[in-house]
Amino acid sequence: METIFIPILLGTAREGRQSEKAAKFVLQQAVSYGKFETELLDVRDFVSLAKTERMPENESSRWSKIMTRADGLIIVVPEYNHGYPGELKLMLDQLYKEYNRKPVGVCGVSMGPLGGARMVEALRTSLVELQMVPVRNAVYFSSIQDLFDENGTMKDDSYAKKLLVLFDEVLWYAKALQKARNKPLTSF
Ligand SMILES: Cc1cc2nc3c(=O)[nH]c(=O)nc-3n(C[C@H](O)[C@H](O)[C@H](O)COP(=O)(O)O)c2cc1C
Repeated sequence: METIFIPILLGTAREGRQSEKAAKFVLQQAVSYGKFETELLDVRDFVSLAKTERMPENESSRWSKIMTRADGLIIVVPEYNHGYPGELKLMLDQLYKEYNRKPVGVCGVSMGPLGGARMVEALRTSLVELQMVPVRNAVYFSSIQDLFDENGTMKDDSYAKKLLVLFDEVLWYAKALQKARNKPLTSF
């Protein structure tokens, strides 16, 4: 059976970001789930303000290589004014065909009770335009400031279970689309 690779992307570069704890937790859970290969990516390593002025055309960029290899993507991202951080948009906009027909799961993060639900809906519309397949399930890390102890350990058991549901769904699409995504639309 083909290996499935689904990286996890932390989508905020903000100094002091709480979402980093959620992203590390998602990575930890994905590793113990064990059914796909993964790694944690940080938007800080892929985007700089200079890139707002010019779309990179270098097809061999690290991000391009990662998404060429990837069978799907999981994004962990906070809600800022009901939207998602601009640096995530800049990073996503660097590529196009590398995303096509690959599933994407979103984990929202917020200090409030909704876990970034409004942002998740907004992000999905851009992901569709990239010809990704946003899955129905999402994980909403609400009240992020209370979810982890001082060692960064998750205090709420329910999040591991929620992530399993998300992983199952992203993996299902990743396997199905890995076989089919290079076929032309007219071939079915
Ligand atoms: C510019 C900005 C806008 C924000 N807007 C929202 C918002 O619309 N809804 C919300 O629930 N939290 C909002 N927050 C609070 C975030 O939920 C909070 O910072 C949380 O810790 C997750 O973001 P972080 O990873 O940057 O820490 C906002 C935070 C910032 C910095």
